[in-house]
Amino acid sequence: MQDGRTTLSKFLIDTLDRKPGPHAATGLSALLVDVAASIKTIAAALTRGALGGQHGSALSVNTHGEEQKKLDLVTNDIFLQHCEWDGLLAGMVSEEMDGVYAVPEPYPRGEYLLAFDPLDGSSNIDINGVVGSIFSVSRRSASRHEAPSEADFLRPGSEQVAAGYAIYGPATMLVISVGNGTHGFTLERDVGNFVLTHSDIRIPDDSCEFAINVSNERFWEPPVRRYVKECKEGRTGCRAQDFNMRWIASMVAEVHRILMRGGVFMYPRDFKTPEMEGRLRLLYEANPMSFLVEQAGGLSITGRERILDTTPRTLHQRVPVILGSRNEVARIQRYHGEYDRGEDKPFTSPLFNERSLFLPETPV
Ligand code: AHG
Ligand code: MN
Ligand code: MN
Repeated sequence: MQDGRTTLSKFLIDTLDRKPGPHAATGLSALLVDVAASIKTIAAALTRGALGGQHGSALSVNTHGEEQKKLDLVTNDIFLQHCEWDGLLAGMVSEEMDGVYAVPEPYPRGEYLLAFDPLDGSSNIDINGVVGSIFSVSRRSASRHEAPSEADFLRPGSEQVAAGYAIYGPATMLVISVGNGTHGFTLERDVGNFVLTHSDIRIPDDSCEFAINVSNERFWEPPVRRYVKECKEGRTGCRAQDFNMRWIASMVAEVHRILMRGGVFMYPRDFKTPEMEGRLRLLYEANPMSFLVEQAGGLSITGRERILDTTPRTLHQRVPVILGSRNEVARIQRYHGEYDRGEDKPFTSPLFNERSLFLPETPV
């Protein structure tokens, strides 16, 4: 008897376990069900808000030197507890742990690796704003009995076998990809099921909405300044259309909006902290989100290269991120190329402004 609805388990079994041939992903569906269990537990904890007694600082800092909230640590432990026992994972890394967490005795070790950001946008917690969780699954080649090493995790994002995020908003949603499109499930709270509500999400190729923390503008590189300036000029500028801007301070919330209606999200390279290559972390923020965005028809770049082609050097490496609607991201990549080749002067030099005799032809 079918009720016409597709639960997460049904989707995963149909997509992965019944897939014939050499690419069958043994155990991946069961692993993703455990990840989903972590997410349901986190959703329940967050729903209690200030009544849960878990707001505020944990009075500790993580490996990035950032203050940890109590909920950063609680949600990290929820992921560990739900995912370490099932014999499918060899180890885990997270924003809130310094090194690799090898699956401990007495649990058997499996062939998969999990990287996660247990609570994204955690500055929103104390204001009851939107937060999320992000995760990435890859497979390791080494023997499953050995403890996983850091090197096992340092593989390009193109090798991920699954990625996803949870958004804890008015409704909790789980958005995942196992490499055949990006699909959204909504949590039916009273029953505890994730139900497929957004099948094969597609990001529109064009968009008039961008998201960037403009307080960093003076530290951006010229191609990003050029793009944002043109957006702000709206219909009076070379884009000849008005743009809208959003900033929620949670990558999950920004990416979710882009998957729902298009747009561009940027946390570009900047020179505020010159030793930092970017703000967001490659393994557990940029890679999984890039996988989801590409699977939905969008693009995700550092400015100059595809993020999924980047080979990580360290577990907590940061990377610039520009992702979203295909044509807008391609334009921003072109601006980086023109800047690097010194071809963008007509568009960025103060000698060439609206009152200048040197005003170039409207660029395309
Ligand atoms: P996290 O809470 O996991 O540290 O991540 C927050 C990240 C990202 O989600 C968001 O886009 C960005 O930090 C917000 O940065 P600003 O504080 O510069 O707005
Ligand atoms: Mn984050
Ligand atoms: Mn986080």
